[in-house]
Amino acid sequence: MANIIVGVTGGIAAYKAAELVSLLTKQGHAVRCLMTQAAGQFITPLTLQTLSGNKVYTDLFNLHEEPEWQVEHVGLAHWADCILIVPASADFLGKVAHGLADDLLSTCVMATKAPVYFALAMNDQMYANPLVQRNIQLLREVGYHFIEPEEGALACGTSGKGRMAAPQKIASMLERLRTQDMEHLRVVVTAGPTREAIDPVRYLTNHSSGKMGYAIARQAANRGAEVILISGPSQEQVPPGVIYVPVQSAQEMFLAVQQYYGQADAVIKAAAVADYRPKQVFDRKLKKTEGDLTLELERNVDILAWLGAHKTEQILVGFAAETDNVEQNALGKLQRKHLDFIAANDVTEANSGFGKDTNKIALYGADHSVIDLPVLRKEDAADRILDAVLQLYQTKHTNRKN
Ligand code: PMT
Repeated sequence: MANIIVGVTGGIAAYKAAELVSLLTKQGHAVRCLMTQAAGQFITPLTLQTLSGNKVYTDLFNLHEEPEWQVEHVGLAHWADCILIVPASADFLGKVAHGLADDLLSTCVMATKAPVYFALAMNDQMYANPLVQRNIQLLREVGYHFIEPEEGALACGTSGKGRMAAPQKIASMLERLRTQDMEHLRVVVTAGPTREAIDPVRYLTNHSSGKMGYAIARQAANRGAEVILISGPSQEQVPPGVIYVPVQSAQEMFLAVQQYYGQADAVIKAAAVADYRPKQVFDRKLKKTEGDLTLELERNVDILAWLGAHKTEQILVGFAAETDNVEQNALGKLQRKHLDFIAANDVTEANSGFGKDTNKIALYGADHSVIDLPVLRKEDAADRILDAVLQLYQTKHTNRKN
């Protein structure tokens, strides 16, 4: 069981902190709550004290009470195995992102070596604000973790992305991250599209943004795995701590995947790899002429099929981007490419597939298992795929030991 600091900042979602504190305490964790002054406008210290069974800390300069530690924020910062900011307001993010520490919670966050998780909650426009996004990015880059907000009705009467994740969800997410359940696993993830050159200025590609693959890489790294992210061109931020291998064409992706395949425990192929490339790549820009132009295309290597044919101990996960006969096509790929399972997504569905923040996936296993997931944020879908990878890995290793 862990020593957890729940830091509550000022936002309407502060009331959910009470439920989270209750959940974590019931799970047997030692929970201590710190509140900012603004949090006191939304929830009382008495509530959190009653639910955690511990004194609630509010004041950096409190000289009236007998302090438990000589310097309270430093003592708390050392005591914590992790710090959870629930809710994390735009104001608090901005403060930490710029190294400001003017109250007990911000000084404690600054003084800790423990992992810090921000459960984001704010108005959707605030969340979308480039300054807030920049602060989140800054914090990610130096190793802070985020529990993304969800779409839904907001306290301000609008609806959008900004609603804090449910306490139950935060608790289970924290458990996975805290226990680093994928430590010792080396996971290769492919993401994004490939670009197949026609001439120096033109190429063939597809609509993959990389969001799905990057979400898998990010979650696997957060869960302690060593992650190699082999990616075609993408605007997504490379998650901290992953080995990043940028590629352009299917052939480059093939070479990179081959390089890491031997040492991988699992390969997850979320990339949308071009099946064909121009047979001839012109070294000068093709000039337009009066008539039509015919390009001759030749087959690219099917990387996943190659991996399936050369599989030793690796767990191999493919994706199937389908527009029709989703199950039938996915099962065909599962078999032909010798996969352990395949994540099928219907890319014509709303809120699913290319470029979206969410995806609707069904996982078909070589053992005939089917996990039909609802529409989930890509991070959550990634976690469900990783859960399946982990379970299979553990089963394989237990069988080998027996
Ligand atoms: O990137 P996003 O915008 O977030 O979108 C996510 C996604 C829709 C791209 C993703 O969820 C997805 O479905 N990725 C696989 C896309 C794809 O190429 O599907 P496919 O059915 O054509 O290929 C099947 C599998 O074989 C895939 O794992 C693919 O990586 C692999 N493949 C395909 C062709 C090829 N030449 N080599 C391969 O390895």
